[in-house]
Amino acid sequence: MPWPSEKTRDNEVFGLIDKERERQVTGLQLIASENFTSPDVMEATGSVLTNKYAEGYPQKRYYGGNAVVDEIEALAIERVKKLFGADHANVQPHSGASANMAVYLGLIKPGDTVLGLSLDHGGHLTHGSPVNASGILYNFHSFRVNDTDERIDFDQVRELAIKHKPKLIVAGTTSYPRRLEPQPFRAIADEVGALMMFDIAHIAGLVAGGVHPNPVPYADVVTFTTHKTLRGPRGGCILTTSAHAAAIDKAVFPGSQGGPLEHAVAAKAVAFHEAMQPEFALYAQQIIKNASALAEALSQQGFRLVSGGTDTHMMVVDLRPFDAELTGKEAQLVLDEAGITLNKNNIPNDPRSPFVTSGVRIGVPSVTTQGMREAEMPLIAEYIATTLRKRNDPAAVAEVRGKVAALCAKFPVYPKRA
Ligand SMILES: Cc1ncc(COP(=O)(O)O)c(C=O)c1O
Repeated sequence: MPWPSEKTRDNEVFGLIDKERERQVTGLQLIASENFTSPDVMEATGSVLTNKYAEGYPQKRYYGGNAVVDEIEALAIERVKKLFGADHANVQPHSGASANMAVYLGLIKPGDTVLGLSLDHGGHLTHGSPVNASGILYNFHSFRVNDTDERIDFDQVRELAIKHKPKLIVAGTTSYPRRLEPQPFRAIADEVGALMMFDIAHIAGLVAGGVHPNPVPYADVVTFTTHKTLRGPRGGCILTTSAHAAAIDKAVFPGSQGGPLEHAVAAKAVAFHEAMQPEFALYAQQIIKNASALAEALSQQGFRLVSGGTDTHMMVVDLRPFDAELTGKEAQLVLDEAGITLNKNNIPNDPRSPFVTSGVRIGVPSVTTQGMREAEMPLIAEYIATTLRKRNDPAAVAEVRGKVAALCAKFPVYPKRA
């Protein structure tokens, strides 16, 4: 069959892709787990590597024709090991969830006890939620953040570890705005004879850029997604000590995946290369500055920041002091109309359900990638506050939409296409 011609091209899908591109670049993208990836990363993602089957690992493949693919995957492995100082890397996980499930498969047995952060206090579904395979297959117990300072309480983690004697302790978060030191987790894991996994999905770019402690020297296994602060393609990665290398590789393939997505692996290699450049460290530093400026500006607008602020790329905002009636669900919907994209989020001890919530989560990786700095953060806070205050006034929301588009036009993400 010949390739589609101008006449038979799938204009429906390509039209929708253009529409989504327009949405992304004309609005404020404030979802903490998203970023704009580089044109080079996208080129690798859309390359001929998508045509290739490469089950196995470099030099140990089940199919022929993998000499070049071997070089690409080996490059990705070498780069990510160097970037984080790891003994061993597996770059094949299709996503963060696949990476985490592979670690459980490789290191523990179904029914084994594990400790992780509760979902409603900032943990991830794959850290033992009862609706996720992690919580169905393994005996997870959850720790929570402190009622007083809304930070992880290591005394509680230790007490639970002593009580439940987990085989594995999972550190890492999905909506927690504070630095997370790896040493206390290591000390507790050692005290009870547990293994320690640190899921740095959100903060991988901050770790690579030197603005968050690197857990690799302390953890038995580190997992992450490549598409958040690290600014790579959608995908996952696992770093391990040599002691667990064989078990982890076996758990990824053949344990839980088939053929690797070598186009994604190539794009990961490109992203690791980009993250090794000195400019990436500046980018990570700017993320921290922007998040802190936005948190300050939001509190001046009357919002309460969970834990009082942020030292990462994200903040969790308690909407109740701003407006007791306003839910996270409603805020997300009306902000979307104003071109401000973020997500509703439970705050610790939230009286509302996860579908409604009393909070929103806000992240600055995308706006920082497009070049916004501290000066733009009060504007963003003002646009959020105005939209929420005037949420029943469509003309006022439309006016903010115009201001958002004008601000974004000053910070073009991708070169205009000819
Ligand atoms: C801490 C953490 N782990 C794992 C994941 C899962 O990643 P993915 O969506 O790629 O499966 C996420 C995604 O948000 C996350 O925040």
